[in-house]
Amino acid sequence: MTETLAANRLQVKGFGIVAFGGRLSYAAREREVAISMDDCRFTPIGVVHSDYAEKKDAPRQGRHRDDVSTLEVFEPYEPALQDVETCSHLIVLYFQDRGDRSTLRTRTPWGPEVHGVFATRSPNRPNPIGVCTVELVERSGRLLAVRWLDALDGSPLLDIKPYSAGVDAVPEATVGWHRKGDLGKR
Ligand SMILES: C[S@@+](CC[C@H](N)C(=O)[O-])C[C@H]1O[C@@H](n2cnc3c(N)ncnc32)[C@H](O)[C@@H]1O
Repeated sequence: MTETLAANRLQVKGFGIVAFGGRLSYAAREREVAISMDDCRFTPIGVVHSDYAEKKDAPRQGRHRDDVSTLEVFEPYEPALQDVETCSHLIVLYFQDRGDRSTLRTRTPWGPEVHGVFATRSPNRPNPIGVCTVELVERSGRLLAVRWLDALDGSPLLDIKPYSAGVDAVPEATVGWHRKGDLGKR
């Protein structure tokens, strides 16, 4: 069972329909949300090159496979890569361009129960942004070879940040609905 925006009769108005001085703003009515996205547009900073042509080819989480993918950062953004090569691990944010943006609730590969997409890592969600912690294998100019990415070939690259164990690691974190309490366990 997959619940979609239309099924829920929740309307999200399009980009730029409600503009209050160009700032992100909300106007809520009963069962209706109007959101200005004027300040919320993203330009891809690059593109993913991976061996995963189709969804079925990709691991559910990149951490489950050691394949090496390449992040090609577009030339205008090369200055932003300064010192990236000093980072052992990176957080990669990519646009899941082949995701279904109308999905609000879905089943997961872990069982028959239905969950809200915000409690899952489904690529089908209102803002389909994939996040992966990857190992940086090598930097060669604007090309970053990385392990543990689950992005399909051609996925637009949105952002790159250093992974910091001190900031990001929460070893005691749990996902309560999952039978093992941890999506990372196979
Ligand atoms: C379960 S998601 C997890 C993504 C990311 N690690 C996260 O937690 O946000 C990974 C799956 O998304 C799918 N996927 C990868 N790139 C995609 C894209 N560009 N559009 C739609 N689906 C994509 C693949 O089927 C892959 O197995």
